[in-house]
Amino acid sequence: MKKPRFLMTDPAHYEVTYSINPWMQPDLWAADVEGSRAAAHAAWQKLKETLTQAGAEVVEAPGAAGLPDMVFPSNSAVVLDGRALVSRFRHSERQPEAERFLDVFRGLGDRGLLSEVEQLPEGLTQEGEGDCVWDPARQLFWAGHGPRSSRDAADYVARFFDATVVPLELVAPHYYHMDVCLMPLEGGEVLYFPPAFTSEGQAELRSRVEPGQLIEVAEQDAQALAINAVNVGRNVVLAAGAPRLCEQLSERGYTPLEVDLTPFIQSGGASFCMTLRLDWERG
Ligand code: ARG
Repeated sequence: MKKPRFLMTDPAHYEVTYSINPWMQPDLWAADVEGSRAAAHAAWQKLKETLTQAGAEVVEAPGAAGLPDMVFPSNSAVVLDGRALVSRFRHSERQPEAERFLDVFRGLGDRGLLSEVEQLPEGLTQEGEGDCVWDPARQLFWAGHGPRSSRDAADYVARFFDATVVPLELVAPHYYHMDVCLMPLEGGEVLYFPPAFTSEGQAELRSRVEPGQLIEVAEQDAQALAINAVNVGRNVVLAAGAPRLCEQLSERGYTPLEVDLTPFIQSGGASFCMTLRLDWERG
C-alpha cells in the first residue's frame, strides 16, 4: 500500500517573535531562547518519528530566517489530485512565506510529487489547509473563514478543484484556523469543538455528518490543540494532554499517538498544521 505523504518544514528558523493569534507569547520564548530552540527541535523530531512509525512518509522543506511560521506548512496550500493552490496570508508577518512555498512546491513538481502549482489570485485571502480540510469519506472540503481566510476564497477553491467546499464561519479567537477545531477522520468521523462555530455552521455540520459520526471534543482537549491531529490509517498523531479525546478515538478503533508539542502550541499550532498532506487523491 502507498504511504500517505506529508510535507514538514525544517524547524531551524522557528521562533515566536510576533503575535498574530492569542496563543503566541514572544516574551515566553525570549525568556529562554536557547532552551526554547532546543525543545522545539526535539519536539519536531519526535513528531516526524511518530508520523513515520504511524506509516507515513515525510518530505522536508527548508525554512527561512525571519519567517518562523513556515514550520506550519498546512497553511501554505490546499493540495488535491497533485494540484497545489498556494495561499495568500492575512498578516504581513506571514505574507512573504507564499513566495518561499511557491519555490518549495515547484521543486516538488520537478520531483514528480505534484503536477500543478498555482497561487490564489490577489485580493483573496486563504491560509491553505489551515482553513480548508479534505474529508476523504465525504469527498469534500470543509472551509473555515473569518479570522484568516475570506469567505469568497472558498468559492475560488471550489472552482479550482471542481469540488464541493462547505464554508464554516469561525467565531472564537483561540480557534482562528479551522484545523484547530475540526478534523475529519478516514473512517468518516468528524471531530469538532462546537463553540468555535456559529449556530448556522453547527447546523451545517449536523446536516452533513451522521449523528454517530460527529464527535464533540471537550474544551480541555480542544485547548490542548489535540483536534489539530494527523490521521494515518487507524493511527491518529496528536498533541499530548487530551485524555478524553484519546479515549474517544480508542473507543472507535483508532490508536492515539501522543506527542508533546508544547513549543509549537506556544505559537498556536500542533501536529496537523506542522504537516501538509501531499497525496490526497479523489476516490
Ligand atoms: N503562528 C502561526 C499563525 O498564527 C500558527 C499557525 C498554526 N497553523 C494552524 N493551521 N493552526 O499563523
